[in-house]
Amino acid sequence: MGYLSVEKKWVFPLVISSLVCVFLLATSFNMGLVSSLHTINSIFSIFPSRLTSNGSSFVESKINQAPPLVPPPLPKFAYLISGSKGDVDKLWRTLHALYHPWNYYIVHLDLESPLDERWELTSRVVNHTLFTKVGNVIVNNRSNMVTYRGPTMVSNTLHACAILLNRFKDWDWFINLSASDYPLVTQDDLLDTFADLKRDLNFVEHTSDLGWKAAQRAMPLIIDPGLYQTTKSDVFAVGPKRNLPTAFKLFTEGYFQTVICNAPQFVPTVVNHDMHYISWDNPPQQHPHTLSVNDTADMIASDAPFARKFRTDDPVLDQIDLNLLRRKKGGFTPGGWCAGKPRCSRVGNRSKLRPSPGAQRLQRLIGNIVFSENFTKAQCF
Ligand SMILES: *[C@@H]1O[C@H](CO)[C@@H](O)[C@H](O)[C@H]1NC(C)=O
Ligand SMILES: *[C@@H]1O[C@H](CO)[C@@H](O)[C@H](O)[C@H]1NC(C)=O
Ligand SMILES: *[C@@H]1O[C@H](CO)[C@@H](O)[C@H](O)[C@H]1NC(C)=O
Ligand SMILES: *[C@@H]1O[C@H](CO)[C@@H](O)[C@H](O)[C@H]1NC(C)=O
Ligand SMILES: *[C@@H]1O[C@H](CO)[C@@H](O)[C@H](O)[C@H]1NC(C)=O
Ligand SMILES: *[C@@H]1O[C@H](CO)[C@@H](O)[C@H](O)[C@H]1NC(C)=O
Ligand SMILES: *[C@@H]1O[C@H](CO)[C@@H](O)[C@H](O)[C@H]1NC(C)=O
Repeated sequence: MGYLSVEKKWVFPLVISSLVCVFLLATSFNMGLVSSLHTINSIFSIFPSRLTSNGSSFVESKINQAPPLVPPPLPKFAYLISGSKGDVDKLWRTLHALYHPWNYYIVHLDLESPLDERWELTSRVVNHTLFTKVGNVIVNNRSNMVTYRGPTMVSNTLHACAILLNRFKDWDWFINLSASDYPLVTQDDLLDTFADLKRDLNFVEHTSDLGWKAAQRAMPLIIDPGLYQTTKSDVFAVGPKRNLPTAFKLFTEGYFQTVICNAPQFVPTVVNHDMHYISWDNPPQQHPHTLSVNDTADMIASDAPFARKFRTDDPVLDQIDLNLLRRKKGGFTPGGWCAGKPRCSRVGNRSKLRPSPGAQRLQRLIGNIVFSENFTKAQCF
């Protein structure tokens, strides 16, 4: 029985269980959208840490400065796009909007999605001429049960990181997205802008002001049914409550924040921004407000490279395709594609060209968050 009999063999059972036990009781378990490979490696302890920055300088060359004669090397992104039941088409569209031969992609449907949907996704990827030729799209077909807010959500993400690390060694940032996310800039613009950044920066939204979460999220001991059953249900609390930890400080919005902010060597690398446009209803619900064409102006004004969350094929996605990505229906986001050749096309010649509107928005965002006074002060406290 193909998928269903596959055992859950964690790649890093120890890492996962110890991190899960200690840190993950905290809050909403968001690893942060854009996480540096350096940090992930240090957490996994696979390779020695290559962190070099001491917090005094954050970038190789400041944006808006005259471009260097030899542009810095292009970074590579490793994307996880995860989905659940009914998400195949949505995930497929997001993958097309995000695809660039220079990056890596791992896609995953959780165990709540039926076998035929998971099979459908795997076949689409393995049968896809370009994906096969370039070889940079992986299906994580060992589907795990993933519970919203539960440790399985983190272990699923770490599992994807582990597979990516195992298959490809040369990426710089891990970007965690869901099928309900969509890019607002092209990958060329993202690569171009991130080329100027130090590779150990993590874009992770966090705060140590736990508020109501201290009592309701950090103190209860929870059980995540996703760890032992194959049908989806929410995490549940078991008594008695634990005390807040005293050995380390908890940070929302979750797990990476807590790990990173308690490790002095990471503190200078954390940018308190997760690169997403997310809008909350008033009062806030468990899930963010679903974006529509009415949110277009705010979305663009945010300068964020990604937004969530969208309904399948909502008209606003067509607007984004048309105006921001120039993506034709069913196609890829056009760009300077020269798989395997660094610095090719527009990206390679950027010193001669005006940044595109998308790159200008990104540079403004990075300028505001990375070079702001706020960032150069200790971010985790
Ligand atoms: C998962 O995919 C790999 C190839 O990508 C294949 O070899 C393996 O049989 C698949 N596993 C299942 C359970 O389908
Ligand atoms: C990864 O992204 C998903 C989808 O946005 C999110 O729900 C999940 O919490 C993230 N995982 C981690 C470990 O942060
Ligand atoms: C960081 O390194 C620079 C030069 O390498 C040095 O001048 C500076 O004092 C260091 N800052 C800290 C906080 O260690
Ligand atoms: C796609 O892949 C599946 C599984 O490998 C295979 O059974 C199917 O025939 C393929 N379809 C096409 C159109 O190649
Ligand atoms: C957008 O705003 C208009 C006017 O306020 C409203 O009638 C419409 O229902 C909104 N559309 C969506 C999808 O929310
Ligand atoms: C940069 O543009 C020039 C033409 O202006 C072209 O000949 C060259 O191949 C381009 N370089 C790269 C790396 O694409
Ligand atoms: C810096 O922090 C202050 C106070 O928290 C805030 O009002 C301001 O918007 C922040 N600036 C930036 C650029 O984030």
